Amino acid sequence: MQKFLQKVITNNLTRASMAHFGQSLKPPVRVAITGAAGQIGYSLIFRVASGEMLGPNQPVILHLIDLPFAMTALNGVAMEIQDCAFPLVQGIVATDNQTVGFKDVNYALLVGAKPRGPGMERGDLLKDNGKIFTETGKYVNDHASRDIKVVVVGNPCNTNCLILANQIKDIPKENFTAMTRLDHNRAQHQLADKLGVHSSDIRKIAIFGNHSPTMVPYIDQMTAKNHKATVDQQWVTQTFIPTVQQRGAEIIKARKLSSAASAGNAAMNHITTWVNGTPEGDYTSMAIPSDGSYGVPKGLIFSFPVTVKNGKYSIVQGLPISPFYQGLLDKTIKELVDERNAVDHLLK
Ligand code: NAD
Ligand code: LMR
Repeated sequence: MQKFLQKVITNNLTRASMAHFGQSLKPPVRVAITGAAGQIGYSLIFRVASGEMLGPNQPVILHLIDLPFAMTALNGVAMEIQDCAFPLVQGIVATDNQTVGFKDVNYALLVGAKPRGPGMERGDLLKDNGKIFTETGKYVNDHASRDIKVVVVGNPCNTNCLILANQIKDIPKENFTAMTRLDHNRAQHQLADKLGVHSSDIRKIAIFGNHSPTMVPYIDQMTAKNHKATVDQQWVTQTFIPTVQQRGAEIIKARKLSSAASAGNAAMNHITTWVNGTPEGDYTSMAIPSDGSYGVPKGLIFSFPVTVKNGKYSIVQGLPISPFYQGLLDKTIKELVDERNAVDHLLK
């Protein structure tokens, strides 16, 4: 008897939905979401299913993965997806078996991990969550499509991604990334609010480093409405940077739960930008394997400003780094080196 619940529902696209989308539908892709029965999962899955992440011409087969105890709840999520009658959903695999879960998967949003509670730092989760990513790495390596694009959301996401990527033997390392898009979006909002513009008017900002209180929101090249924009340095150091660095903790204090809808939104943004590219004249933030740029030790999963074109990201080179920013960069580099040292046993 199977210990796990595995549900595969494969629907052929109905005539009605074919008519709705015309002939321009692409072949379906498989999207895995771990932690699918959790709170981020619940805000994310339905938006991916609706086509918001990969576009209205891209059918998806959803691979929803969680732990055995969560299978009943996950089955409920699967029923709700069915009840949405999403035209783009061609199948649902709901499982606690990672062999099945990662089979031929093209995109993976790795959310499944413990969240922190009040008074904790994300790094405190490393001991429990780190080992999840060793195991997941093995399944991804053995079963996923060789072109898989992965974003790690589960915290501490940079070092979890490092652990995961260490298990990968024959998929390019650059396909393994972690999420700092939420921090980028948070920074955009704070700056827009300060400057009295819309957040979409704020460009050329980035998050460097770790998804932690040492992250470095970099704004020295910022434009608002396509013009160079500055804000006073005192506000930057005393309000802006601490607000962005501590936003996750503030949300936990307010909700008694960590951010979920905004995190799911950022995970989708991360993949959408990776697939569709960055707008001309702008960049985004992704935590990616360092190539040594900006003096960051090679291999660390470090957030950089990146441009994306044709599904490939490139680090934005040559941004001027002031002594103030260099001091912040040194701190976040040190923290990530310390995290790497702490999980040395998982990197063998
Ligand atoms: P949650 O507790 O609501 O859900 C987590 C889910 O993951 C649960 O259903 C759990 O059963 C499942 N899970 C645990 N281990 C698993 C495994 N090995 N395989 C598959 N599923 C597994 O938590 P949440 O609020 O959804 O948060 C999930 C993670 O995302 C946390 O680590 C949180 O800190 C992190 N997070 C990161 C960011 C970011 O910006 N990088 C933002 C928000 C939350
Ligand atoms: C966030 O930034 O909201 C998440 O990383 C959750 C957390 O623990 O702060």
